[in-house]
Amino acid sequence: SRYNALVKLREGKISREIFSDKEIFEEELEKVFTRAWLFVGHESQIPNPGDFFTSRMGAESVILARDKKKKVHVFLNSCRHRGMKVCQYDHGNTQLFTCPYHSWSYTTDGKLFGVPQFKQLYEGCMEKEEWSLIEVPKMEIYKGTVWATWDKDAPDLLTYLGDAKTHLDLALDCRDGREGGSEVLFGVHKWIIPCNWKFAAENFLGDTYHNVSHRSVDLIGIGPSAEAGVKGRRDNEMEKAQHVWVNFPAGHGVHSAIMPQDWEFLNTYQNNPVVAEYFREAHAKRKERLGAEKHRLIPFVGTIYPNVSFHGNQPRNLCVWHPHGPEHTEAWRFFLVDADAPQEVKDFLRIYYMRYSGPAGMTEQDDMENWNYATAGSRGVVARRYPFNYTQSLGKVEATGPVAGNVSLQVSEENPRQFYRRWRDYMNAADWDTLLGRKDKEPASFAE
Ligand code: FES
Repeated sequence: SRYNALVKLREGKISREIFSDKEIFEEELEKVFTRAWLFVGHESQIPNPGDFFTSRMGAESVILARDKKKKVHVFLNSCRHRGMKVCQYDHGNTQLFTCPYHSWSYTTDGKLFGVPQFKQLYEGCMEKEEWSLIEVPKMEIYKGTVWATWDKDAPDLLTYLGDAKTHLDLALDCRDGREGGSEVLFGVHKWIIPCNWKFAAENFLGDTYHNVSHRSVDLIGIGPSAEAGVKGRRDNEMEKAQHVWVNFPAGHGVHSAIMPQDWEFLNTYQNNPVVAEYFREAHAKRKERLGAEKHRLIPFVGTIYPNVSFHGNQPRNLCVWHPHGPEHTEAWRFFLVDADAPQEVKDFLRIYYMRYSGPAGMTEQDDMENWNYATAGSRGVVARRYPFNYTQSLGKVEATGPVAGNVSLQVSEENPRQFYRRWRDYMNAADWDTLLGRKDKEPASFAE
């Protein structure tokens, strides 16, 4: 197939075309973004009946809504009449979504409710029941996060996440080890990057190798304790941990750390005693709840295939790389905190998170500059004749390790190789049965 020729993993070569070609991008929208599970928002953003948050799936606008009976829905944000957006706002509360074009209106559970001059113009011509908002066939809520897919044949979300769930959990759970219990801090950061979405997704698979990009930040000091003399971004965990880079059959990849036995809390919030005390207590409770062994796993970053990335430790957040075009990505960052943390802790973290990870923060621009030119460098007439090099630690990776999944104990490009292997599977496979090897179909994967 075309994609086997573009993605040659045994040789560690990937064609630059997959990062800039318009046709490939269009095919991705169909084959990746209508099939995979996509993160659309967090329950804490829509706590009350009638609440909504306008999100995206692939290149399309969707509405995450809680109806009158408190049920959560995900609808395509497109009127059934001529396609206009029925919801123009980022978030809010409403009884009806009213289309601004000809004023058809829909209830919060998606039913077509009002049609101007219905009796005179439509009675006998149309059954309103047949023209509800288009709703995703599958939606699941996991620890407050809402996920959806346009493919009714997709596996359930937990099967899709597989063992990557353990690492994602560390971003979604409370700091004291309670399951879930996080909320999204008010306001989602949104910004446009002139790059291909895969550069961003790949970066969060655990590309620790790019640390030089953040060298200036490390020298200045950005951690909450920077003023107290700790300059590195995560000195305490970085130095003591056994780092693991792990990938999973579904294409997800993470970089996490296993701390030494009985690791002690190291205060990095001493400039704010309330915050320091909050995290000290959380650390002790977490150890008590999870036990000494489980307590050792600490997350750094990860990407849930295809386009949802997370920072698991501080700053704790989810980031979605929405594709707009082959060289046009919209990044959305959702910052997470413990829902029942004192307001002072939330306020402190909001400012720290923005400084660290916002579009005007200190580490994000470094990355974006790289992705921007890497995208331009994928398009050049001469440049695109030459593939990218994905040979790092090829054949050197441990197959087993202290956590589930395909583990590497040193930084390697095994995670992106698995990500692109799965990407190629999606582009080659006709349906989920082929992707999963269900119903006697040969699994699409692992051709080379
Ligand atoms: Fe919505 Fe006509 S496009 S009412």
